[in-house]
Amino acid sequence: MTDTPTTGRRFVLAARPDGLPKESDFRLEEVAIGAPGPGQILTRNHYVSLDPAIRGWLDDRPSYLPPVALGDAVRASTVGTVIASGVDRFKPGDWVMGLNAIEEYSLVTPNAYMHPIDVSQVPSPTLYLSAMGAVGLTAWFGVSEVMQPQAGQTLLVSGAAGAVGSCVGQLAKLRGTRVVGIAGGADKCRKLIDHFGFDAAIDYRGKDVEALSADIAAACPEGIDLVYENVGGICLDATLLHINHYARIILCGLISEYNGESYGARNIWQLIVKTATMRGYLVSEFVDRFPEGSKAIAALIAEGKLRFDEHVEKGIDNAYPAFMRLFDGSNRGKMILDLS
Ligand SMILES: NC(=O)c1ccc[n+]([C@@H]2O[C@H](COP(=O)([O-])OP(=O)(O)OC[C@H]3O[C@@H](n4cnc5c(N)ncnc54)[C@H](OP(=O)(O)O)[C@@H]3O)[C@@H](O)[C@H]2O)c1
Repeated sequence: MTDTPTTGRRFVLAARPDGLPKESDFRLEEVAIGAPGPGQILTRNHYVSLDPAIRGWLDDRPSYLPPVALGDAVRASTVGTVIASGVDRFKPGDWVMGLNAIEEYSLVTPNAYMHPIDVSQVPSPTLYLSAMGAVGLTAWFGVSEVMQPQAGQTLLVSGAAGAVGSCVGQLAKLRGTRVVGIAGGADKCRKLIDHFGFDAAIDYRGKDVEALSADIAAACPEGIDLVYENVGGICLDATLLHINHYARIILCGLISEYNGESYGARNIWQLIVKTATMRGYLVSEFVDRFPEGSKAIAALIAEGKLRFDEHVEKGIDNAYPAFMRLFDGSNRGKMILDLS
């Protein structure tokens, strides 16, 4: 391989964030690129998926994956090409995706999540990090397997204008469910209705539980049968006041609490009063069925039945500000970093 550079940059965890991550919690490091030994591959990473979950991996506490170690490149899913390979099933030139790290080049032993992808049939390889990647799959299995919404039911989705939320709402609409979304700001609320086809939208910004509760009551006059929770905090608390008997709440994320501002659901007693169920959900429950989910999502997009927006920022120098967009709400779709 003649055009392999000798060094590449990585976005490294320098200190464990206390609350909202600061720029000084990270550093860019230039490191030498090695050649792959047996069982290893060298990849050029073109795109990185920036996900709220990354924030959890920066803390030193038990979770479904070990914390990112201080001094390591920050963990993230990537899409790239194989430059050199010591593994039979990966050939130089192959496109590959997997749970990897925010770095320009990776010398890795492929893990279970890393696999070759066919980019010839998709408009952009970024689709493997968005609609056909973890967020699209989260929505797909969350709706089709965990929630199974029905016509005649009302679903309330929080974080509704984001990557997972917008997809969840559209998939539920395809099943005839009435869908109400909670999002931050008038623009996002307008987009929920005009672009994603939601039935109603609620702006949570600047509101307390009481004000938000009043808006939810107005938007859900028949009460709420299903909740797809991405946010937690006051969104979940206000929502709980309007659930129907036997309501089901899918806890997919609690982004409002990822930076340490733990709130707790103070109206959790509503689960008793309404004999309701709350269930935690991780997309990895369905890891064996990811190809089936990606195919189903790709088909819906091709048929024009599903819209999926991406927000792409360029360059590893922008890793920090791009990541922070997830927490100030300035991302306008699935947050992706373009390293190519
Ligand atoms: N369980 C799983 O397997 C799984 C898999 C993937 C993602 N998730 C979860 O799904 C949720 C959405 O992830 P995503 O990738 O689709 O991100 P996203 O919604 O595209 O982006 C994050 C959005 O969260 C909202 N947000 C941020 N801080 C907030 C706060 N304090 N209060 C209310 N809203 C806030 C912002 O939208 P606004 O402008 O509307 O505030 C922001 O745009 C996250 O909680 C994530 O952890 C779970």
